[in-house]
Amino acid sequence: MKSKTKFIGIGAQKGGVGKSSITTLLAGYLYYTQGYNLGVIDCDYPQHSVLGLRQRDRQELEANPQKMEAATNHFKQLGRKSYPIIAATAETAILEAEKLIQISIDAPDIIFFDLPGSIDVPGVLALSLELDYIFSPMFPDMQTLESALSYVQLLRDYGVMKTDMPLKKVCLFWNRVDGREKTALIDLYNQFLREEGFVVLATFLPNSVRFNKEATHNDGAVFRSTYYPPDKRLLKGSNIEELAFEITQIINE
Ligand SMILES: Nc1ncnc2c1ncn2[C@@H]1O[C@H](COP(=O)(O)OP(=O)(O)O)[C@@H](O)[C@H]1O
Ligand SMILES: [Mg+2]
Repeated sequence: MKSKTKFIGIGAQKGGVGKSSITTLLAGYLYYTQGYNLGVIDCDYPQHSVLGLRQRDRQELEANPQKMEAATNHFKQLGRKSYPIIAATAETAILEAEKLIQISIDAPDIIFFDLPGSIDVPGVLALSLELDYIFSPMFPDMQTLESALSYVQLLRDYGVMKTDMPLKKVCLFWNRVDGREKTALIDLYNQFLREEGFVVLATFLPNSVRFNKEATHNDGAVFRSTYYPPDKRLLKGSNIEELAFEITQIINE
């Protein structure tokens, strides 16, 4: 059934590392500026933060006729609607993704799964193994690194090493990197991680206040929206384009 659609999980053994924000930014960039056809399965029950953002985005338009008109024009120009965001649990996520593929006229290129912040949530491990790729954000601190390693190791042993499992690759990447930390600490961690056989993306995301710029902030430039691509000025220096490029290269290898 899922002949061409790639299932991509954004997951980590921790909350607050940027999974939902990064899911939204990647989806927005790839769908609205790069022409990818995609959907998002929000499996982080009960928070459902990606769906929550879509609801806030919609309320924002409904409360403001000018913004509604601008959005209507934006979608007219785009020639398609916003990408679907579907609420699920880890246990229903694959079924929801398959339903989405079935009802789509053109099968999506990508379905993103915003995964729950723990592998101990029922169904998360099984779901993870059903995905094609998992990209896992981590912070440069010892505690996060330790949980990231045990998480990736588990997925590697249960999924990637087994040829009968869809999961092909699990990639770590750095999020919220401070300018000063960049070279010394990250290089050291990367060297260690790669020696241990883990895949670390070349792209890292800087720590930046723009991550909190939703439409509701109302100062013109929106970074995180489910109706618009990340604002061009805010994209610059965010490394979201670079991350999207590196990820699409890996899934098309
Ligand atoms: N690179 C970053 N720079 C600054 N803030 C970030 C960055 N990435 C994520 N955040 C912030 O961290 C918080 C948690 O992010 P979120 O995407 O909700 O994480 P998760 O889904 O993993 O729990 C949010 O307030 C988000 O804006
Ligand atoms: Mg989240």
